[in-house]
Amino acid sequence: MSLPPHWKEVGGEGRVHRVMESTLTARDRVGVQDFVLLENYTSEAAFIENLRRRFGEKLIYTYIGSVLVSVNPYKDLEIYSKAHMERYRGVSFYEISPHIYAVSDNTYRAMRTERRDQCILISGESGAGKTEASKKILQYYATTCPVTDHMSTIRDRLLQSNPVLEAFGNAKTLRNDNSSRFGKYMDVQFDFRGAPIGGHILNYLLEKSRVVHQNHGERNFHIFYQLLEGGEQDQLSKLGLERNAQKYHYLVKGCCPRVSSINDKSDWKTVRKALTVIGFHEEEVEDLLNIIASVLHLGNTQFGEGEDGETQITTEPQLTYLSKLLGVDGPALREALTHKKLTAKGEEMIGPLSFEQAVAARDALAKAVYGRAFTWLVAKINQSLAFKDEVYNSSKGSSSVIGLLDIYGFEVFQHNSFEQFCINYCNEKLQQLFIKLTLKSEQEEYEAEGITWEPVKYFDNKIICDLVEEKHKGFISILDEECLRPGEPSDISFLEKLEDTLGGHAHFVTHKLANGKTRKAVGREEFRLIHYAGEVNYTVNGFLDKNTDLLYRNLKEVICQSDNQILSQCFNREEVTTQKRPETAATQFKNSLAKLIEILMSKEPSYVRCIKPNDAKQSGRFDEALVRHQVKYLGLMENLRVRRAGFAYRRRYEAFLQRYKSLCPGTWPNWQGRLADGVATLVQHLGYKPEEYKLGKTKIFIRFPKTLFTTEDALEARRPALALTLQTSWRGYRERAKYHRIRNAVLVIQSAWRGMKSRRKARRRRHAAEIIRKFIKGFIYRHYERCPENEYFLDHQRFSFLMTLVRNPPKSVLDKSWPVPPPSLTEASEHLCRLCMQNMMRAYCRRIQPEWKKQMEQKVVASQIFQDQKDSYPQSVPKLFVASRLDSEEFNLKVIQTLGNDKVKYGVAVTKYDRRGYKARPRQLLLTSSFAVLVAEAKLKQRIDYAALRSISVSSLTDGFMVLHVPSEDNKQKSDVVLQCDHVIEVVTKLATMADKKNKVNISQDSIKFAVARGKEGVIDFTSGPELKVAKGKKGHLLVTAPQLNPR
Ligand SMILES: Nc1ncnc2c1ncn2[C@@H]1O[C@H](COP(=O)(O)OP(=O)(O)O)[C@@H](O)[C@H]1O
Ligand SMILES: [Mg+2]
Repeated sequence: MSLPPHWKEVGGEGRVHRVMESTLTARDRVGVQDFVLLENYTSEAAFIENLRRRFGEKLIYTYIGSVLVSVNPYKDLEIYSKAHMERYRGVSFYEISPHIYAVSDNTYRAMRTERRDQCILISGESGAGKTEASKKILQYYATTCPVTDHMSTIRDRLLQSNPVLEAFGNAKTLRNDNSSRFGKYMDVQFDFRGAPIGGHILNYLLEKSRVVHQNHGERNFHIFYQLLEGGEQDQLSKLGLERNAQKYHYLVKGCCPRVSSINDKSDWKTVRKALTVIGFHEEEVEDLLNIIASVLHLGNTQFGEGEDGETQITTEPQLTYLSKLLGVDGPALREALTHKKLTAKGEEMIGPLSFEQAVAARDALAKAVYGRAFTWLVAKINQSLAFKDEVYNSSKGSSSVIGLLDIYGFEVFQHNSFEQFCINYCNEKLQQLFIKLTLKSEQEEYEAEGITWEPVKYFDNKIICDLVEEKHKGFISILDEECLRPGEPSDISFLEKLEDTLGGHAHFVTHKLANGKTRKAVGREEFRLIHYAGEVNYTVNGFLDKNTDLLYRNLKEVICQSDNQILSQCFNREEVTTQKRPETAATQFKNSLAKLIEILMSKEPSYVRCIKPNDAKQSGRFDEALVRHQVKYLGLMENLRVRRAGFAYRRRYEAFLQRYKSLCPGTWPNWQGRLADGVATLVQHLGYKPEEYKLGKTKIFIRFPKTLFTTEDALEARRPALALTLQTSWRGYRERAKYHRIRNAVLVIQSAWRGMKSRRKARRRRHAAEIIRKFIKGFIYRHYERCPENEYFLDHQRFSFLMTLVRNPPKSVLDKSWPVPPPSLTEASEHLCRLCMQNMMRAYCRRIQPEWKKQMEQKVVASQIFQDQKDSYPQSVPKLFVASRLDSEEFNLKVIQTLGNDKVKYGVAVTKYDRRGYKARPRQLLLTSSFAVLVAEAKLKQRIDYAALRSISVSSLTDGFMVLHVPSEDNKQKSDVVLQCDHVIEVVTKLATMADKKNKVNISQDSIKFAVARGKEGVIDFTSGPELKVAKGKKGHLLVTAPQLNPR
């Protein structure tokens, strides 16, 4: 696209885009985008002027409400790019300039939101742009719909089915270089996500006569030319073909095998590729091409007269190729092409064909073969478009369909035949549907809903449809009847029959029936039908043949035997053997049309009305008369009037409320009352003005598109908030549910655990109670003999006694504690106690050191002597006895020498009191193993042999006096010795031990008598007093006062 100069000034891509957009919109505003907005909406002139002005600006699309009017531009406009598709995606219908994409998108969204099957009906006369429109719609879906890898194959096949079908079913006509010569209805299936998942094509009445004949200026089907132009040399040789269309009779009837606007060579490449994409196997393609080639060879098959005047084939090479390409027996084919089989009175007879008959049989074969191959092709494409099982399962029940109807448009030629009759009949039917669905139903609906409005007059073409199809008296019935009639029916006899039956019908005229001017316009072999779209004269010639579509039985038989897979599928044997007459072409067509109408009625329709601006296929030329004619017969003015009188939009209350309820607090989230009240509340809240809408019985009618558009905008704006609310409440719900689940689980675990714990506790308590009971009982019976009542208690007592012992045995020999045994264990306890003591003692003894043992022995001796006898004993117990109180240095050497072998075992410092006078003198007392000796300095003062020692006396007080009693028979011998020593207990113990005089120690309470000399006694008196005192008392006694610690 070249930019106008002023655009170059704009910098930055974004701004260029914006400027372009606004310029585009400004341009779009030429005239009105929607005829509904036309001031003078009843004026045809204003209508056409609007079309013309917009066409002049290359604005080919205009709406009448939701119907799209499209004018063929005859040139490529740059309005079909991907960017354009994006612009129209998801955008409201009225928000943006009219476009085929807007219709596509709107239909798609209606399918998705309302879940209703949709169809787009494209109508208009031949060459008005129907096929192009349907292709644009398909491309739009292929580009904008979501698609997965898996589905992209389906999408590609959907797209690629077009070039294949066009190659085999389209041809150049006078009206259109790429005219569809068959009707096509295509279903595109979408899954719940809106992705295309499959497709299905219904084909209608292929114009087979074109295979053998074309009017001047027209061509045969494209595929023939494409094969010859584009096929490889090898391939052509194999098929016995030459790269020259001029050589083939079937291709040059219209004298124009070449067309400037068509590139057969590149189209061939496209078709070959498409066949592969769709999934044709190589063998299938080969079989298909064999059929194409065989048609060309049939066209070149010539007949001549034999010697006997019989008809025979004069072109042998063709026959050879034919038998090879068709996969049939040559001689059989030869015979079938020149003879016919008749059954008369149950007998089969073979008769020769005349030259004309042979030509007709040949052409019939060509048409039949091509026609059936075409049907096979459609079936094959359908197989490849059928949605596959796994996809089907996942989207079962939730898939929706958009149907696309691209069917031959109303057609008027110089000579119109059976084909034109069928095509125009088809258009009548579609017009009838359009009337039903829009005009009539619209008016009926207003009435039913009780909406006041002004009725609009329109022409109802039902009368023409009836004329054609009515049972018994309709055109088709008469035609069928004439075809089947015994005798010699002919096209002329058929015409006469028509005149007889239909004469007087307002829409049927013949030369004979007409008068004056009309009579001149209708030929003798013609009849005229006054269609809704205009008058058409049909030549009656060929009607009977084309209707019976006869193929001689023996030809059918030959083809049934074919090796060609496609042919053997197309021609089945039953057909040959059955006696039933096949349905005529017209009846077949009528029935399939009825089915089509049924299909369309079950869907929500959208309309595209195509208009061709001129007959010359020229761009930029707007032929007003031609356009006016089309506007008229397409009923566009009536359409507009109904639209204006009525309402742009209507919806059932529930649907309307469901869609917009979120826009009004009163109706959100749910309206409880009557639907009509809900809608009233809603529109009041939305601020609809009274003239903008009407409320019917079950529907709301909105007059202007703008009103709805504003409401849609509001909904669009509200969506995110709604989504958020939904999301939040859903999340809340989910979390709550999760929480409840967890909580329940926790409760279950908890109660199980608690139950277990309680049971355990109860068990323990029961056990404890039992034990307590046993205990109490046992306690009561404890003094009885062992019996069941007390055995537990006794055992326990015994056990606990033993356990106490085990756990807490006496720790030392001195520890005399011992648990009190139960009566039954008294004896055992004693044994145990003894054993335990013995054990401890043994262990104790083993542990004892020799010195300590000695010490102990001495202490034992001391205890034997003094315990409980002498007051100072208890204090002496903890004081250890020592080996000697005098160190060796303290001994006088002389004394040691004097003692000689008698070793001093113990020495201690003492005070010696004289027996007379009690003078105190310091002395050392030394003990040897056999005597004790008192030493003063170096002198041995007195020796006391242990043998001579009679006894030892000490007081019971705390003093340190001791008296060693020795015999004093003679005077020389010194007598008893009175000594005082700080370690009296130690000294006495040692002395008593060494002298073995343990039993000879006397402990006196108050006085000790001692021998002073023979026969003379001294006395020491002991008294207790606060402190130690030694004094001479009366009567010559020695008086010792010492503290008494332990009162006795
Ligand atoms: N939208 C369009 N843009 C450009 N050219 C178009 C458009 N519609 C139709 N044409 C031209 O018109 C010709 C006839 O259109 P087609 O759709 O085959 O007509 P119909 O199917 O109605 O007979 C096409 O081959 C094409 O050249
Ligand atoms: Mg077409």
